Amino acid sequence: MAEKINCAVLGLGRLGWLHAANLAERVAGVNLLAVADVVAERAADFAAQYAVPLHTADIDAVIEHPDVEAVVIVTPTTTHAALIQKAIAARKAIFVEKPITLSLDEARTIDQLVQQANAYCQVGFMRRYDPAYYAAAEKIRRGDIGKPLYFKAVSRDPQCPPEAYIRDSGRLFLDMSIHDFDIARFLMADEVVEVTAMGAVVKNAFLQTYADVDQALTFVRFANGATGDIEGSRNAGYGYDIRAEVVGTEGTIQVGALSQHALHIFNKRGATHDIFPGFIERFASAYVLELEDFIARLQRGDASPVTTDDGYKAVAIALAATRSFDEQRAVKLDYQPV
Ligand SMILES: NC(=O)c1ccc[n+]([C@@H]2O[C@H](COP(=O)([O-])OP(=O)(O)OC[C@H]3O[C@@H](n4cnc5c(N)ncnc54)[C@H](O)[C@@H]3O)[C@@H](O)[C@H]2O)c1
Repeated sequence: MAEKINCAVLGLGRLGWLHAANLAERVAGVNLLAVADVVAERAADFAAQYAVPLHTADIDAVIEHPDVEAVVIVTPTTTHAALIQKAIAARKAIFVEKPITLSLDEARTIDQLVQQANAYCQVGFMRRYDPAYYAAAEKIRRGDIGKPLYFKAVSRDPQCPPEAYIRDSGRLFLDMSIHDFDIARFLMADEVVEVTAMGAVVKNAFLQTYADVDQALTFVRFANGATGDIEGSRNAGYGYDIRAEVVGTEGTIQVGALSQHALHIFNKRGATHDIFPGFIERFASAYVLELEDFIARLQRGDASPVTTDDGYKAVAIALAATRSFDEQRAVKLDYQPV
């Protein structure tokens, strides 16, 4: 690879625009060579604003472009599998947003193809790069709370995404709780072996059309006997609320705070503070750090730290939770070798 990595971003929606802007302005060692979106004007707007040399609606042409060394896939989840396969065939390094795909077979196939081709593919589980989650993982690993016994996570979105997004999202367990399933594996350093999931539509009636829910709870069992619970909600009208806790034999470690700024207001009505409005603000630094690491690893020739095996396992847990919700029973996971 050249000293600066020539990179292309595919998909310039809610998150793709941010990833592309981070690559254009905040990440060292990268040359944002091309941006692509099926909506041609979006790519043109971005390219004009950030002086990107190439912009197009022809996604395949960008993947196959001889000067593009790495692609960042931020398109709707239903398109990930095909784009990853094209990028592997074109011998490009890949960063792909979560989930890697919506079906277990496809996830397994992707992982196999990545391994066979010895391709670089990094999955966008950005919570692993959030300074608080990262520090928690380090402290758990060095034994600060003893042996982990219980994992707890709360993930609440301030509102439900639009219907057009929900349609292709794979439902709440796969679209949203998947972040918690991944961070559970990361913090507990263990595999989830059984899930029992429940859910309901308590606010956004249109979700019923897609058999989706806006309030969910997954009880998880880990291989070493630890357990946990994960709440997923689209109904936090007060703001974006992401927290986790690992209770160990010698203590507990809590991650996440509601306050966006170190700012408290005291007046006759009481004491108040602000709240993160959404994922863009809460994980602003994590989104930069994961792409910095992506580029730095490509420059050094290092392996991916968030692999398609991680992507596959998170999809497996999310699909098991979805089945558990649908069939109202506990579902075991056996992670067949891939
Ligand atoms: N890691 C996170 O925190 C996080 C947050 C949000 C979204 N995501 C993931 O990122 C992906 C995109 O989500 P989003 O919220 O940005 O979606 P979005 O709907 O806002 O944007 C998708 C963009 O892709 C474009 N597009 C559609 N099909 C395309 C194709 N075949 N090729 C190129 N462009 C195409 C659309 O025109 C749109 O601009 C999803 O997989 C989602 O799960 C991850």
